Amino acid sequence: MEVKKDGGGGPWSSSGDSSASSNPACSCRRTLIAFLIFFLLIIGVFVGLLIAYLVQEQHDFMETVELKGLKYDPVLQDENSGFSIVLTSVLKSKIKNIFTASSISHHYIDCSVVAYGNINSDVMATFRLVFRVSKVQQYSDNFVQDLLRGGLGSVMHGKPLEVPEFGEINAIVLLGASGKSFYSIGDEMIARCPDNTFTCDDGECVTKLNPECDFVPDCADESDEARCACGTRPAMGSRIVGGEDARKGELPWQVSLRLYGRHTCGASIVNDRWLVSAAHCFAWNKDPKDWTALVGARLVSGDESDSTTINIKSLVVSPDYNSLTTDSDVTVLELDTPLTFSSYIQPVCLPSSSYVFSPGQICVVSGWGALHQYNPKVPPTLQKAVVKIIDSKVCNKSSVYRGAVSHNMMCAGFLQGKVDSCQGDSGGPLVCQGAPGRFFLAGVVSWGVGCAQINKPGVYSRITRLRNWILSHTNPSLVHDYYQHVPTVPVTVPGESFYNPPVPRTIAMDVSSAPTLTALNCSGHFQCSAASCISKVNPECDSVPDCPNQADERNCDCGMRPAMGSHRIVGGVTSRRGEWPWIGSLQFQRLHRCGATLIHSKWLLTAAHCFKSDPSPTNWAVSLGSVLRSGVGALVIPIQRVIIHPAFNGTNMHHDVALLELAVPAPMSYTIQSVCLPSPVHRFLQKTECYITGWGSMREGGSLTNLLQKAAVNIIDQADCQQSYGNVLTPNMMCAGSIEGGRDTCLGDSGGPLTCREPSGQWFTAGVTSWGHGCGRIGFPGVYTRITSVRRWISTYLPF
Ligand SMILES: *[C@@H]1O[C@H](CO)[C@@H](O)[C@H](O)[C@H]1NC(C)=O
Ligand SMILES: *[C@@H]1O[C@H](CO)[C@@H](O)[C@H](O)[C@H]1NC(C)=O
Ligand SMILES: *[C@@H]1O[C@H](CO)[C@@H](O)[C@H](O)[C@H]1NC(C)=O
Repeated sequence: MEVKKDGGGGPWSSSGDSSASSNPACSCRRTLIAFLIFFLLIIGVFVGLLIAYLVQEQHDFMETVELKGLKYDPVLQDENSGFSIVLTSVLKSKIKNIFTASSISHHYIDCSVVAYGNINSDVMATFRLVFRVSKVQQYSDNFVQDLLRGGLGSVMHGKPLEVPEFGEINAIVLLGASGKSFYSIGDEMIARCPDNTFTCDDGECVTKLNPECDFVPDCADESDEARCACGTRPAMGSRIVGGEDARKGELPWQVSLRLYGRHTCGASIVNDRWLVSAAHCFAWNKDPKDWTALVGARLVSGDESDSTTINIKSLVVSPDYNSLTTDSDVTVLELDTPLTFSSYIQPVCLPSSSYVFSPGQICVVSGWGALHQYNPKVPPTLQKAVVKIIDSKVCNKSSVYRGAVSHNMMCAGFLQGKVDSCQGDSGGPLVCQGAPGRFFLAGVVSWGVGCAQINKPGVYSRITRLRNWILSHTNPSLVHDYYQHVPTVPVTVPGESFYNPPVPRTIAMDVSSAPTLTALNCSGHFQCSAASCISKVNPECDSVPDCPNQADERNCDCGMRPAMGSHRIVGGVTSRRGEWPWIGSLQFQRLHRCGATLIHSKWLLTAAHCFKSDPSPTNWAVSLGSVLRSGVGALVIPIQRVIIHPAFNGTNMHHDVALLELAVPAPMSYTIQSVCLPSPVHRFLQKTECYITGWGSMREGGSLTNLLQKAAVNIIDQADCQQSYGNVLTPNMMCAGSIEGGRDTCLGDSGGPLTCREPSGQWFTAGVTSWGHGCGRIGFPGVYTRITSVRRWISTYLPF
């Protein structure tokens, strides 16, 4: 104490006194003390680290696998049956071998089979792996899964796995805990991702639609975001596309291909050396020496400082090109000198073969319109036109192109005529926006009959089908036959194997993938894992991974309105088709009773009081995907289970919420989508854009409406609402509407959603319509069950 006081007080008390600091004894003592403190600090840190290292914790890792070829038998549910005993021992011994041969063998404790199930008539098994690891050395889910995958790969290498007396396993599909992706191991036939899934570099198959370059890593190895330096428009800022003349830098991938210096066709930049164009542009002249490319230009004359002309080194016309049918109308061109990218020169993104450009999607075609049929004059500035993707089946109809549309083509434009690729030119790009600000090459302008004629839209070469051929020239390293990439390196060679990185990729992360997090007091902040919280407000589903384990961006395929486009402004009273794709009409014996909200393909939220008369699921069904209450054109799915909140009180309306399980999952479509569920700590701010929707009556005492109604409402401060309702209003309830009256949930109805749009553009459900005094009465806003306060209860039934 004494020493500390002297040493610590010295500099402060004598700061103005130069004689004190010139005392050599005092200075020396101070140095010594400083050194001592420093030394103790080092020791302290060291001891702390040692303790953290020595204190070992148990960590669980869950995995579900599909055992292809092994027929499911219900006797598996009896753990004493021969099948169950034999299969369990085979799985346990194989998994034990994998981990005892791995770099983390000393941490492996046990494997137990949690459950067997039936998947496509084959056996599905869920097992738990238990590890003991020190606090500082925890492994990430990805690391453990990589080991497991590598190990199973070598177990299954080239031969089926015997389950004596009961059959054999031909291949194993790792379904993962998330349900968002899977891996196939073993069978050459299935060891590639199905066509509708995205293939990551390590062979993981991601089921999310268009995961690549959307700023959210979906692959465990993040390869879906790895090659994304494309498709942006640095010169544009966040301006919206509109008008006829393209602005400078609006279409920085656009190229003017010139034959003997004269503009002849369009093309697109795909990387610094390669362009993509149409095959038919080179019908008369395939000699690269006669062609040049003008890049970075808006004026076809090339009289701009940012544009340059580059010679063509080589060009390859697709060998599958058929000049009679115009099938596979694509060419790649190599530049003589590599491009230097700038605000006006940028590559466009090449979509993966699983990428989906949906019918109705708004895209942009551009060019100088050189092949305009009746007007051969080339406009001086780059032209663009907004077109819609047209379903190939529609385009192939006898009234349109009579079967002339092949699988390697796609149509875009308008069947009513108006605009189409006459405004672009052959070989030019048709691009569509994926994630905001990121453009993908959907098509290459190929053919069409006339210009903007009725029922004669533009026809384009379909890039998703031709992409592998394009890449085989422009970037051969990316055309992987996935099977060659399946690492079958045995795990018994630690250090050298692909699957044994010496250090876990993520340090100090939770291995546990149990669906419910253990309670941790994050003091109102978002909880990422059993051991970590982050302080950002509403981090979930904002397209920015905030948690180290990215838990905040999981389960975010929700709250989108694909039928709405991105720039549409909500207005009016009746809803358009697809405007509220998560609302359902809850029907008792096919008659509308309540609203309901789709929160997952198999689950809906509604109000508990809707089931006062009949809580058994038998007579209930939900109608989805229609704005009509009568459900014309809707999908009607029976309810399999009704779960009323255990604390529901029908007298005072506490916990007025129920979960409904559908008999079959609802297929997501343009008009059927789930809404995002907020985390328990999500905050809906008073200025958030919120809507109520329903088929309820439009005024007090009125009858139901036939068309889905909507109304914009404000979240009302809890204290203000308490003034209206007093203590009847609990913290588990929230108010919305306007204190002035007029707009209220009479428009919606019981069980229906109060949904709010967060800045990410995604819609979250904030409340379930519960009660209120009358409709739209001044001073009495609608009362909703607060979702955030029942969120943990919802998690006990939902997989997230
Ligand atoms: C269009 O119709 C033709 C003839 O019926 C058929 O061969 C072709 O596969 C169809 N194209 C598409 C994209 O379905
Ligand atoms: C969490 O901690 C805060 C203070 O840090 C406390 O006020 C709150 O009651 C705690 N919550 C729970 C659920 O323990
Ligand atoms: C329901 O609420 C009423 C009114 O507040 C109360 O009297 C009753 O005891 C409650 N019922 C239950 C089961 O808690």
